Parts: sequence; structure tokens; C-alpha cells
Amino acid sequence: DNVIGDAAVAVAHPNIALVKYWGKRDETYFLPVTGSLSMTLDIYPTTTAVRLSSEPGDTVVLNDRPAVGDAHARVARFLDLVRARAGRDEYAVVVSTNAGPTGAGLASSASGFAALAVAAAAAYGLDADARALSRLARRGSGSACRSIFGGFAVWHAGEGDGEAGDASSYAEPIDGDALDPALIVAVVDDGAKAVSSREAMRRTCDTSPFYRPWADASRVDLEEMRKAIARRDLPAVGEIAERNALGMHATMLLARPSVRYLSPRSVAILDRVLALRADGIAAYATMDAGPNVKVLCARADEQRVTTALRDAADIQVAHLGPGAALVRDDE
Ligand code: PMV
Repeated sequence: DNVIGDAAVAVAHPNIALVKYWGKRDETYFLPVTGSLSMTLDIYPTTTAVRLSSEPGDTVVLNDRPAVGDAHARVARFLDLVRARAGRDEYAVVVSTNAGPTGAGLASSASGFAALAVAAAAAYGLDADARALSRLARRGSGSACRSIFGGFAVWHAGEGDGEAGDASSYAEPIDGDALDPALIVAVVDDGAKAVSSREAMRRTCDTSPFYRPWADASRVDLEEMRKAIARRDLPAVGEIAERNALGMHATMLLARPSVRYLSPRSVAILDRVLALRADGIAAYATMDAGPNVKVLCARADEQRVTTALRDAADIQVAHLGPGAALVRDDE
């Protein structure tokens, strides 16, 4: 009918940063103040289909509902970038479904824009290698540039602003598969956050006296994290990740007005992580733009960690997962 050709369908997984991206130096190109490092998960995939359409305007369906307002505008603006690069002008029908919670600090925007980048590039015939896809995904949601890759990935802050920054700010995979950690996701609240990460970042950069010190410490954390992963030192990886995340939340607490994503239930999980460590289990927490806590540990300890957290939250066990990829279209 109004659809031109077949759909391109892609699947991508969320990633959780162990050294966080928090703060943009360029809001147009989504250029971060600091580099970051993440692990891509094997849970909560996003599946996204993109079909070109002869109808005017982009149609966007997210989790079985038509997207309107800001959610629609973000996708349409992203498709504008793809169309400009591909030299095409057809609109598209985008159907995207998250297996996990949306907008709850569980990286649905990372898996979402990584899947959209891969599917839209294929639908519009854009010739893009993994680095180009990472740069493209970054324009939808910064953290999405890391979900193009599986396993561990580092996102380079890049040099300069504008187009120079755009060319030099992308993620790449780093070899850490031998570390093979578990990430225990403790879901205390799967509702959508009240303050977007975009707004919280902007407010933190603009007003928090803790922002600069955290950014300076985070550059050091990134270097130490790379070394800790290379020598397969899980306790060091966990310690760096935990201090980096707590520091990020400290920057937000001192923003004006303050942003606080952690709830009493998040803090209860943090207490249990401390208790696990007191019992000799190497378990470390990280938290993003929401109250849910992710606990890093060795695979050999995942059962004990899960048991310790089970009555305090809904538990999902994740491991290193795959990069974003096209899937066969059988629709
Ligand atoms: O890409 P965004 O705008 O969803 O930012 C996500 C930022 C954090 O999840 C809090 C940290 C990170 O590096 O993923």
C-alpha cells in the first residue's frame, strides 16, 4: 500500500556505564565532556523495524502505542539526519518495542537509538560502518553510541566542538570478555523518571559546584578502569565503577534545583551491597538516571548476590551481550 519496499529490522541491547557519561560540551552534536566505558547487556533488547513510506510525515509506534510529542520529535529529528546523509527524502514508519522498562534508568534510550540507527541506515541504504553507526546513534541519545558494540565499549569524548567533535566522538569495543562479569539488575521501580537525563545533565553542568571535580576524577577513573579490565581485576573494576557512579549522583544532588534519582529502596540495596562485601563477596553497585541499582560481581558469585537482594527488588541477571545487528525480516 503506502509502504515502499521491505522493513529493515534491527535488535540492540542496553549498556550500563561503569565510567559514566554525564554532561555534554556540545548539545547539538551530543558531544560529552568526558569519555565513558560500558558493558552491553544480554537482557532487555529493543527490536526496531523501519519501512520507507510514501505517506507524508514519519509514523512512530513505541511499545505498541503511537508516539506523540517529544518522543515522536526525537525519532523524526533522528530520521532527518539519516535522510540528509543518505540523500533521500522519503518518510518512514518506525515500530520499536522494548523488552525491558522504558525511561526507568535501564538504558532503553541506548538500545532504542542503537537499534534505530542500524535499522534506519539499512532502510535508507546508508553505507555506514560500525564507527559511523556509533556516531549516528550518539545523535539520538549519547549513551546509544556504546550499544552498537557488544561486550565492553569505550566512548571517546573526541576533540573539539561541532563537526570536528562529531568526527572524533564514537565508541569502540575493548577486549574485556575474559572478565566475564555478571550484572545483577535490582529493579526497585520500573516507572518512567520524572526528570530526563538530558535535563538533569544540563542542570548539573550549569549549576553544580561538584561537576568539574567529578569530571576531572572521571578522566582518571577511565584510565584506571581500562587497566583494571585489561588485567581482569574485578574488585578494581567494581571499586572504580561504584565511586564513579556515586560521584555522578553527588554532582546532581548539588545541582540547583537538586536532582535526586535514588530512592530509599535504592539506598537499601546499597546497604546490602556493603553487607555482601563485609562477607567477603566482591559486589559493587552502579546507578544511572533512575532509582534502579545494578550490582557487578563475578559470575561465580551471582547466585549469592541474587539471593541477598531478592526480597528487596525484582532481580534480573545480565551478562555481556551482543552488539546491535540487523535481523531477518519475516514480518
Ligand atoms: O544517553 P542518555 O541521555 O540516556 O544519558 C545516559 C547517562 C547515564 O545513563 C546516566 C550514564 C551513562 O553513561 O550511560
